[in-house]
Amino acid sequence: MTVRSTPTPKRIKRKDPNNNGTPQVDLIIIHANELVTMDSTYGVPRVGLEMKDLAIIPDGAVAVSRDLIIFVGTTKELYANFPPSEKTVIIDATNQLVTPGFVDPHTHIIFDGYREKELEMKLAGKTYIEILESGGGILKTVKATRNAPLARLIKNGKTILNRMMEYGTTTIETKSGYGLDTENEIKSLLAAKELNLEHPIDIVSTFLGAHAVPPEYEGKTDEYVELVTSEMIPKVAKEELAEYCDVFCEEGIFSMDQTKKILSTAIKYGIKPQIHIDEIVDTNGALLAAELNAVQVGHVLKSNDEGLKALKNTETIVTLLPGTPFCLMLKDYAPARKMIEMGIPIALATDLNPNCWTESMQMIIALACYHMKLSPAEALTAATINAACAIERQEEIGSLEVGKKADIIVFEVPNHNFLPYQFGVNLVSKVIKNGKVVVDFEHLAN
Ligand code: NIG
Ligand code: FE
Repeated sequence: MTVRSTPTPKRIKRKDPNNNGTPQVDLIIIHANELVTMDSTYGVPRVGLEMKDLAIIPDGAVAVSRDLIIFVGTTKELYANFPPSEKTVIIDATNQLVTPGFVDPHTHIIFDGYREKELEMKLAGKTYIEILESGGGILKTVKATRNAPLARLIKNGKTILNRMMEYGTTTIETKSGYGLDTENEIKSLLAAKELNLEHPIDIVSTFLGAHAVPPEYEGKTDEYVELVTSEMIPKVAKEELAEYCDVFCEEGIFSMDQTKKILSTAIKYGIKPQIHIDEIVDTNGALLAAELNAVQVGHVLKSNDEGLKALKNTETIVTLLPGTPFCLMLKDYAPARKMIEMGIPIALATDLNPNCWTESMQMIIALACYHMKLSPAEALTAATINAACAIERQEEIGSLEVGKKADIIVFEVPNHNFLPYQFGVNLVSKVIKNGKVVVDFEHLAN
């Protein structure tokens, strides 16, 4: 890890009608032991060795006006340039770590019902696909989700989002995929839309109608693909309910040809492609993702070298989901070190779903370090600025820089190495979303 010498303070002037053009300072964070800025010195996403340099400012400070960052530098520089008024909220981060809010770029939070009993099946040696084929897995969740009214999906989503926020997540991507018919896929996307309006966390929506073949189409996958392309995608596009389209491309689920048909239709309707690839077996998903120039791909556990090389020559972000092999008790994790050495940009996400249920990006950082051998700095890069790239939000979030959204985490630990080191607990002290303190655990400490 490199600790940079103090950079020149960066400023922008925001006009405040009540204040002669000087921006009002609504909130400041001062004396951060480590202020992880992830600044854009290298351009984004960060690849290779760049992932280790967090652009840390010791005794760091941030000033916020309304929902935006207006200053990043040392505490001394902040007081010289943006002195607080008596209205300014002051957060003293002495001995604490301050980072950009986590971005979780691959989740499935819209569902009803639980699958806690499947753990015993997995312990008895049943595979993910066997559980699915026996009517469990995704199909069990589909049954419950179809029966759930919209209000219930919204309520479930809110509970998940609240916990995500407590653990430091400030933006997520989420998918439909447990409706698997036009009405219920639309209902799921409407739930995501409503949650985006009601909850402080920002939500980017993805249509995943091709998540599994529903029971009424058993043995007729091509007919289901036809429904997805001729009815669902046009409707989702017309109602502007999703920015991305995803497919579970896997042996026994959707083939390469079916995936290509779905995603090329989505592209025609202005919905950008993502794919779940090579999670359980290598189906050459990485090659297909490269061919379609997917914005991001998830899992990428079994992809072959030719596919990885092809991905390297695209803009595609590889989103690694170590929670999934952990919950499936698999021996192998995605070859993250190889990807970093090849210069492939990687992000991290929870993949939160009823099979792999964690709201905690801190947990995912720990798994990435212990099972995929990422360094703490690399994992934090993958969970912030690179994760923002996976949902094309790198201009607004993912780093602490002037002009970006004030989405910030204050951790009650002194440096970023603690994130995987002290694992399985919540190290958050405060979360700031759009310039407002939305989580505050400090009172517990006193
Ligand atoms: O990304 N693999 C496909 N979809 C999800 C799991 C969905 C489920 O099991 O409910 C995933 O792991
Ligand atoms: Fe997933």
